[in-house]
Amino acid sequence: MDKIVIEGGAPLRGEVVVSGAKNAALPALAAALLAEGEHVVRNVPDLADVRTMGRLLAHMGCAFERTDRHTVRIGVAAGTRPEAPYELVKTMRAAVVVLGPLVARLGRARVSLPGGCAIGARPIDQHLKGLEALGAQITLAHGYVEASAPGGRLRGATFTFDGVTVTGTENVMMAAALAEGTTVLRNCAREPEVVDLATALRGMGARIQGDGTDEIRVEGVERLRALDHMVIPDRIEAGTLLVAGALPGNDVTVRGCVAAHQEALVEKLRLAGASVEPVPGGLRAVGDGRPRPADFRTAPFPGFPTDMQAQMMVLLTVAEGSSVVTETVFENRFMHVQELVRLGADVTVEGKHAVVKGVPALSGAPVMASDLRASAALVLAGLLARGTTEVLRVYHLDRGYERLEERLEPLGARIRRVKA
Ligand code: UD1
Repeated sequence: MDKIVIEGGAPLRGEVVVSGAKNAALPALAAALLAEGEHVVRNVPDLADVRTMGRLLAHMGCAFERTDRHTVRIGVAAGTRPEAPYELVKTMRAAVVVLGPLVARLGRARVSLPGGCAIGARPIDQHLKGLEALGAQITLAHGYVEASAPGGRLRGATFTFDGVTVTGTENVMMAAALAEGTTVLRNCAREPEVVDLATALRGMGARIQGDGTDEIRVEGVERLRALDHMVIPDRIEAGTLLVAGALPGNDVTVRGCVAAHQEALVEKLRLAGASVEPVPGGLRAVGDGRPRPADFRTAPFPGFPTDMQAQMMVLLTVAEGSSVVTETVFENRFMHVQELVRLGADVTVEGKHAVVKGVPALSGAPVMASDLRASAALVLAGLLARGTTEVLRVYHLDRGYERLEERLEPLGARIRRVKA
């Protein structure tokens, strides 16, 4: 298994261009299942999760190919096999977003239940309840969700999500696009990735309004046309690079990131003493001296993203004082803490809260990545620590970041991947 080896303490300076958003690309690729034809999705990051989605679409009988490193072509024919097997869904929960499109276009679907994952239970009850509200009949058997639309077509309905769910909103919105009549979805996720998917669906001929607010209205249409969509920049990759810039002594400009997607993070970086300013086409983060402590809590967009919690915590490990980090979106999303402690951080966790007492410096050590964002945090910690840090289980990092080490190295980081 590959590992990333970092010699900490080298100042980072320069510019980096952000990739396309993984969490917008995956539902856009699933949206291709809504229409027969030749679909094109652009600005797709070259990541393990995208390859998994490609295998899943191929398993269903779709043609999936990259025409260049960041452009994907998907051929969807009439004979799509509406099944997502456990072997693929277990490695990537987001695969569950194929359920809505399949049952909407083909009238039936069989999708494996994702099972538990490292950052908590992550049920899909809201996806299923939303689809049931649209008339789907759902049974659970042998670890699979089996969904069918009586008469072959879903019907528009009003549905309120019990809690805010990003992929749940996406799944039900996609299903509603082909349902008969009007659907009103309340308590929807407002994340930029939901807006990007709605934009993609409108490009296919869907009639959707209200995305980006908590109420989405969909007038179902009988048929959609093929997709040609450009995915938005990845706000989590951009945010991770902004935190890198905010570490003491660094100065990083992230080109291509959308400032409106970064407001909650930028506010907290500034509270921690970093300077973050808009520059043409991006944001520049400069870290000057030891950070100040900053409390923050994660929340659905436009709140502070749970996917940035671990990375922001790294900055606070060397702050002059104590910060309280509260995780409200996922239980058990503090697995990076025990690894940060191995690097000399002083962090204690109690339930949803982590108390981060700033220390003057971290010291390098071998650490183990436990999930996607935790692994990015460990890379940042390695940049900050004195001496050598080895981040093991890099496959977690590769699920969501396109060669992160190749983005950081030109900025001056002493970082390399060691092939196993
Ligand atoms: C998406 C993102 C992920 C991010 C998360 C929260 C993708 C592919 N992934 O994941 O990177 O961390 O949003 O911003 O876009 N829940 C239920 N029932 C459901 C669905 C969710 O109880 O049916 C709960 C979850 O357990 C969690 C919370 O709702 O506690 C939010 O989860 P959700 O927004 O659904 O996360 P994902 O869409 O899986």
